[in-house]
Amino acid sequence: MALHVSDLTPVTTQPVNTRFRRIVTPLPAPQSIAEIERLRRFEPQSMAGMPPILWDGAANFLVRDPYGNQWIDLSSGIVVANVGHANPDVMAAIGRQLDAKRIFSYAFSTQIRRELLERLVKVAPEGLDKAILFSSGTEANECALSLMRKHGLQIAPDKLGILSFESSYHGRTLAAKLAGGPPGIVDGFQRESLFHWQLPPARRARFAWIRRGSGRARHPAGIGGGDHPRVDPRLDDHTASGALHPPVGRVGRSKQRAGGGR
Ligand SMILES: Cc1ncc(COP(=O)(O)O)c(C=O)c1O
Repeated sequence: MALHVSDLTPVTTQPVNTRFRRIVTPLPAPQSIAEIERLRRFEPQSMAGMPPILWDGAANFLVRDPYGNQWIDLSSGIVVANVGHANPDVMAAIGRQLDAKRIFSYAFSTQIRRELLERLVKVAPEGLDKAILFSSGTEANECALSLMRKHGLQIAPDKLGILSFESSYHGRTLAAKLAGGPPGIVDGFQRESLFHWQLPPARRARFAWIRRGSGRARHPAGIGGGDHPRVDPRLDDHTASGALHPPVGRVGRSKQRAGGGR
């Protein structure tokens, strides 16, 4: 993400007015600075790779800001707009989906999903006869990594290695970062550093929370109930945090919480 520009002082530009490109303001456009600063207040450092240009509209391969500047989008909107921004076929398909109010079907079958998968399999190379839909490239890469390991394990129990380029980018999730991220980014993250509680039987499950320091934040101390210990001994000063999302149906009161540790 080397593009990050922290200094938002406008730089004088030469006017450009060609068939596709138009530059009519200094850059960043002085009118955009307040908005960009405000955006930066609400986003973490991980989003710092954005050049200080405020996109307002886009059509096909052209993007515009609200101040009269226009560029050729050589990033394809980070590849998601390879078919062009506001492609009429894509817009119409999104419109049809919204009109049908078929916005969500996570755990159920739909004809439209079958149609898309069938088309994908039809254009895929010979032997690839199944497809699965994800909402991001990162998720697709996670799935690919998991399939690689599964495939290796079917051949031999120690066939677990995955070859990847140093400091390449495969997405923002853990496995994707492990596959390419620069050294350090996921250091210490192994199966051994994830502790798994045994959930007590549903009727007797009790979540215990403790307060640390004088703040209002409460942290998970453990899950108790029945014969199960109230505080898990592994939740000590070496534990960074806790993510509690009981499997659906395993406890009476389903709660999802993430607690911050030390
Ligand atoms: C090479 C590569 N892999 C994976 C990803 C992650 O895709 P997504 O942002 O859709 O999760 C990107 C995104 O820029 C990418 O360029």
